[in-house]
Amino acid sequence: MESYAFVLVSLIAIASVSHSVAQSLTHGAFPVEKLLINPIPTVTQLQFYMQAVDTGGNETTYRVSNSSITDSSPAKFGFVDIFDNLLTETPDPSSNIVGRSQGIFGTSDLSEVAVYNDLNVYFTSGIYNGSTLHIAGRFPVFTGYRELFVAGGTGYFRLATGIVTLREIAVDSMTMSAVVEFNVTVVHPILA
Ligand SMILES: *[C@@H]1O[C@H](CO)[C@@H](O)[C@H](O)[C@H]1NC(C)=O
Ligand SMILES: *[C@@H]1O[C@H](CO)[C@@H](O)[C@H](O)[C@H]1NC(C)=O
Ligand SMILES: *[C@@H]1O[C@H](CO)[C@@H](O)[C@H](O)[C@H]1NC(C)=O
Ligand SMILES: *[C@@H]1O[C@H](CO)[C@@H](O)[C@H](O)[C@H]1NC(C)=O
Repeated sequence: MESYAFVLVSLIAIASVSHSVAQSLTHGAFPVEKLLINPIPTVTQLQFYMQAVDTGGNETTYRVSNSSITDSSPAKFGFVDIFDNLLTETPDPSSNIVGRSQGIFGTSDLSEVAVYNDLNVYFTSGIYNGSTLHIAGRFPVFTGYRELFVAGGTGYFRLATGIVTLREIAVDSMTMSAVVEFNVTVVHPILA
């Protein structure tokens, strides 16, 4: 798993990736159409872990509202959480920091417990530092497989699209905290 963690699997050499990152991040608002003229289509695979802490004094996830039927609804319909969760390289919360997962999460299905997610992955280290990925979608809470999509990105990930699979790998019932594994496959152009 270590070798897979937070690695870049791209169609081109790392040296030219760094060059491209430098261009896309330090040149600020360069014309984005440059990415569409002779783009190098790139597939970047990332794996990281979200530390969602709901209670216990160092919360990073907060319930901001319940609907009038959340308590009585079998699907727990209509609560909204907002979070700013740490992202780490391994499941260990003290492992290297990848960034933050910032967004909202809520129950939006009247008949089963299923959530709506809308979050930004904000990278704060490595070659992606300062870039973001926008991830959204729906998953039912009580089935194993969870898939979301990449709806866009900034910086290194301009014009991105992609797929995210995730699973809870640890839940602490005392603090209601969870560690969630994210596997992200991003398809995006980089400057030729
Ligand atoms: C909160 O985090 C700080 C710094 O990591 C730690 O020292 C403290 O024990 C934590 N508090 C709780 C209640 O977990
Ligand atoms: C939402 O409901 C839960 C469960 O009844 C309760 O613990 C929580 O305080 C409520 N939060 C808000 C913001 O209404
Ligand atoms: C990430 O970028 C910010 C802003 O340029 C900088 O202050 C910070 O030191 C960088 N962090 C790392 C880990 O490189
Ligand atoms: C993530 O990828 C690893 C390595 O391929 C795999 O073992 C793991 O089951 C995947 N997890 C998810 C949530 O897709």
